[in-house]
Amino acid sequence: MSTSTLPRHIAIVMDGNGRWAKHRHLPRIAGHKAGVKAVRETVKFCVEHHIEVLTLFAFSSENWRRPAVEVNHLMELFIMALEREATKLHKQNIQLRIIGDRARFDEKLQKQMANAENLTANNTGLKLLIAANYGGQWDITEACRRLAIDVQQGKLAPEDISAELIEANLVTADLPLPDLFIRTSGEQRISNFLIWQLSYAELYFTDAHWPDFDASELKKAVAFFANRERRFGHISEQLRAENHA
Ligand code: IPE
Ligand code: IPE
Ligand code: MG
Repeated sequence: MSTSTLPRHIAIVMDGNGRWAKHRHLPRIAGHKAGVKAVRETVKFCVEHHIEVLTLFAFSSENWRRPAVEVNHLMELFIMALEREATKLHKQNIQLRIIGDRARFDEKLQKQMANAENLTANNTGLKLLIAANYGGQWDITEACRRLAIDVQQGKLAPEDISAELIEANLVTADLPLPDLFIRTSGEQRISNFLIWQLSYAELYFTDAHWPDFDASELKKAVAFFANRERRFGHISEQLRAENHA
């Protein structure tokens, strides 16, 4: 695989844990547990292929609406996964960031998130973003709120608010925008994931449930990406002319 056609930032909606479990007559939480293995495989692939950023949607701002037992199980799973994986990620030179509104998580989990981030903060390899209690609308709202404060304090004129400035206040401010979006389990929607940041991402959908997603599935998604012509509003002929200049 040539590096020029590899995505720099892959963003994944890890969907289908519940359906995977249901097919096996298992409780939904068994599907979430099985999903952790797919996370490991995906991270490994990204490290091996020198992908710069991997963002995984683990828990949306809307997922609190699920039955309390499932939400509680998911929280326990996050705590366990952080406990087990943080040092392993560190050893692989991975920088871990948790994006989302963390205030709603219990203190123990918030502390663990901060510890794992601090441990890996200076790592220079893959940037692994875990979206937890994340919503794209929340991200944009927070950015607007910060800009409004600057306006209120006289540091910013309303006419100076631009798309670039809003983008610079999103959680992904210092990163390349996702160029490949993947959603598993057949659903074709964004579900309030990185709604601003995905404006020019290539969208890839697969019927595989998240626990079945592995390196061979990811290879297919990356091959799909390599075959897209990314025009960003131009026409094909302009891009070809540029490539030959
Ligand atoms: C994704 O799998 C994991 C989370 C949202 C936490 P789901 O739990 O949404 O699985 P399905 O969609 O019910 O199969
Ligand atoms: C989106 O999946 C959130 C995560 C994968 C964490 P959902 O399964 O919650 O999305 P909807 O509700 O089907 O749109
Ligand atoms: Mg789902």
